[in-house]
Amino acid sequence: MSAQLESTRDPELAIAATDAVAEGLRRPRGRLVYRHRWPIRLMHWINVIALTILFMSGLQIFNAHPSLSLGNRSDPGKEILALDARMDANGQLVGVTRIGRHEFVTTGVLGVSAGPDGQPQVRGFPSWLTIPSSRWLAMGRQWHFFFAWVFVLNGLCYLGYSLATRHFQRDLVPTKQDWRGLGRSIVDHIKFKHPHGEEALRYNILQRLAYLVVILVFGIGIVLMGLAMSPRMDAVLSPMVEAVGGRQSARTIHFIIAWGFVAFVLIHVFEVIITGAFNQLRGMITGWYRIDGETPAKQVDAAAENSHD
Ligand code: HEM
Repeated sequence: MSAQLESTRDPELAIAATDAVAEGLRRPRGRLVYRHRWPIRLMHWINVIALTILFMSGLQIFNAHPSLSLGNRSDPGKEILALDARMDANGQLVGVTRIGRHEFVTTGVLGVSAGPDGQPQVRGFPSWLTIPSSRWLAMGRQWHFFFAWVFVLNGLCYLGYSLATRHFQRDLVPTKQDWRGLGRSIVDHIKFKHPHGEEALRYNILQRLAYLVVILVFGIGIVLMGLAMSPRMDAVLSPMVEAVGGRQSARTIHFIIAWGFVAFVLIHVFEVIITGAFNQLRGMITGWYRIDGETPAKQVDAAAENSHD
């Protein structure tokens, strides 16, 4: 028998072990706090679905003319980005991405990639990133315009609800104290140090700024640039279309903001994972979020004080 197992026969060690288990059971596991009200949760997840479909159907529409220009015209050779294809000496299709004057071979992902039948196909973005997966512009537009309405109405409801309940002013707009802690918050984020206990209930300054930029700059910007591309609306919105440099510029800004959303989501989901994926997801699905520091028996409905209502 091993020395370790043998040692459990020692009464003193056995008592010490029992004490350690009891201490472990006594160790505070935290308390559940009602953090996100249901309308915010519902609108958050509607937004996730709408944005995913908008992004993928948007890439389907982009594939119909897989290049970006500035101004009012899209002249060949003057694009700032182009996802192209050409034949090599062996007659094989090669995908080429051009950014300004720089060219990159991107076969398999951009320019040329496997179609739904598995054969190499000339297409800007690959089939796994587009809705529908095959080349079908008309269907892509149907998905895109339907979910654009979902996104706009959901966004207006979110803004209206957040302003009316003062969630926006209280939880998203940074306070003077938040601004003073900006440097510290940046250092903490670089060190992956995150607040615990009660402190974790407040959005920190970087979170607040990220949410405000995403809601007010990305959200409103992408809708306006989408409208600027619509032939019917660009007459009404012509001063704005001119201000951004023309319809092709509006299309380019629309595209850049779409990828800005992707960058935000990658960082956002990364932060969710490193700050406790299960707890964070439970918070955004059921409303209940666990903060560390107190006994589980003390599960308090702290909606009035702490929730982001
Ligand atoms: C699968 C993807 C996503 C997951 C898992 C996720 C998860 C979460 C969680 C857990 C929170 C609460 C954070 C906290 O309380 O500290 C949150 C808040 C938030 N998320 Fe996401 N999210 C996702 C996608 C998105 C997308 C696509 C957007 C919009 C661009 C977005 C925008 C926001 C905003 C603005 C808040 C703050 C909501 C408020 O309190 O008003 N999220 N998300």
